[in-house]
Amino acid sequence: MTYTGEPYDFNDKRAGYEQLAGQLEGLLAGESDPIANAANTAALIFDVLPEVSWAGFYFMRAGELVVGPFQGKPACVRIAVGRGVCGTAAARRTTIIVPDVDAFPGHIACDSTSRSEVVVPLIAADRVVGVLDLDSARRARFDETDARGLERLAALFLQASPMV
Ligand code: SME
Repeated sequence: MTYTGEPYDFNDKRAGYEQLAGQLEGLLAGESDPIANAANTAALIFDVLPEVSWAGFYFMRAGELVVGPFQGKPACVRIAVGRGVCGTAAARRTTIIVPDVDAFPGHIACDSTSRSEVVVPLIAADRVVGVLDLDSARRARFDETDARGLERLAALFLQASPMV
């Protein structure tokens, strides 16, 4: 399919995520390679969502999170489970919204301009296979609507690209 980068209206966040989910489904249709699909998922999220400075994946490799396809500045390569926001989301198996990264104990600063973050764990066959991570230069950029919307996008990615 051809990506048109059609205009999105995130003033109505729910509607924006609805539209984004439809676009992602189209983008991933017919392809199951996890790297290809993660690359396009990160690119779509980064292109469409306002005020996002980094969007991408970490994948579980031998019990450790290793950076995967992303958009944004170069990032930390390896994150231990339980460390930082990514490792904490993986350990707790739940989405974590961090309104102020300076107030999150153990936050790993890859990009000094990052002020808030959201991390969605990727769970397949009851195993954490990675995380989807987004950063913003604005404090409190991400709320519950973002979390639910991003969980849906993560589920579409996993559905298209089975990793276990
Ligand atoms: N801040 C993350 C590290 C990854 S970067 O934001 C891309 C963390 O604390 O896990």
